[in-house]
Amino acid sequence: MASTAPEAILLVGGKGTRLRPLTVHTPKPMVPAAGVPFLTHQLARARAAGVEHIVLATSYLAEVFEPYFGDGSALGLHLEYVTETEPLGTGGALRNVSSRLHSGPDDPVLVFNGDILTGLDIGSLVDTHRTSDADVSLHLTRVSDPRAFGLVPTDPTGRVTAFLEKPQTPEEIVTDQINAGAYVFRRSVLDTIPAGRPVSVERETFPGLLTEGAHLQGMVDSTYWLDLGTPHAFVRGSADLILGRAPSPAVPRGCGERLVLEGAEVAPDAKLTAGTVIGRGARIGAGSEIEGSAVLDGAVVEPGARIHDSLIGEGARIGARTVLRGAVVGDGAVIGADNELHSGARIWCGANLPPGTVRFSSDM
Ligand code: GDD
Ligand code: MG
Repeated sequence: MASTAPEAILLVGGKGTRLRPLTVHTPKPMVPAAGVPFLTHQLARARAAGVEHIVLATSYLAEVFEPYFGDGSALGLHLEYVTETEPLGTGGALRNVSSRLHSGPDDPVLVFNGDILTGLDIGSLVDTHRTSDADVSLHLTRVSDPRAFGLVPTDPTGRVTAFLEKPQTPEEIVTDQINAGAYVFRRSVLDTIPAGRPVSVERETFPGLLTEGAHLQGMVDSTYWLDLGTPHAFVRGSADLILGRAPSPAVPRGCGERLVLEGAEVAPDAKLTAGTVIGRGARIGAGSEIEGSAVLDGAVVEPGARIHDSLIGEGARIGARTVLRGAVVGDGAVIGADNELHSGARIWCGANLPPGTVRFSSDM
């Protein structure tokens, strides 16, 4: 990283619709991953790369960020918060915070989507930007199914040739390289985004810049990368942080297969494996098995429950012998004993499922 590290904008205003019910009371970046709000990992990684000033572009449930992170000094950062009165989209949000930046017109400004867990070398993205003298530089990654992302084909020098957000037809699937949600903008380019109306950086700004002949540079790598936009991905990301597969300075070192937070009570014969986290004050009953899952603060798992790849919300209760695989249980919900919930089940916050109500097997 060059001597003056750039400042950064974090986009954290999305509604997190695909993550419901986890995002009913909590904006996506504040849902705990490996024991702290997910955003902490992104902030800590930016700080480790030398970034000091970060502006958070907030909208949905905006009021919860500042009471938690304050001025950022606990993380060695200077944080500012800007809230949109109406959601302005990714591009509108950037324009809306640009008055808070201290950078000069040609200086690089980092931009991060607020739901990405990655091992990106932030310094090397900035170096790529400086060396190629680009207007915008984009971190790209390869995925097997690019349809849910922004497709970004490049020429042999890495220069971006098109930007196709969420392609609708097979003909549009021209590459497996996608926008990984981290950019470096020349500051003057941010100031050209129209103010005071919603703008999508993916659907309007990037295609418009390409039409005008601007230089967009891609940097592809094969480091860890995951968009935590769905419950399945969120649970995976939390487990990968604990297992050390995804790097973050905000995860305690050497926690091995599990992370048990202060005040949690775990029965001695409970099996906690594959990156499971047990939140503060949670209680885990005898003989239960919890694999690759997140049990948030104050939740209760009764004896003999088996939980795989699932997320249990704050204060929720899982009854004895209940089996969960790939399920999400909202804050405060109660799942009675002897239920079975399988892939994709979402139990809403505060719901109450009586004992033995849902089964996938005929024995009981
Ligand atoms: N402030 C603000 N205001 N932030 C917003 C708004 C808004 O109106 N809308 C979305 N955001 C934030 C979200 O909180 C998130 O951090 C980021 O912008 C991206 O929004 P998502 O809703 O997560 O978009 P996506 O995952 O469908 O697609 C984006 O990310 C992909 C990589 O994960 C796009 O950038 C794709 O091109 C990209 O491939
Ligand atoms: Mg996303």
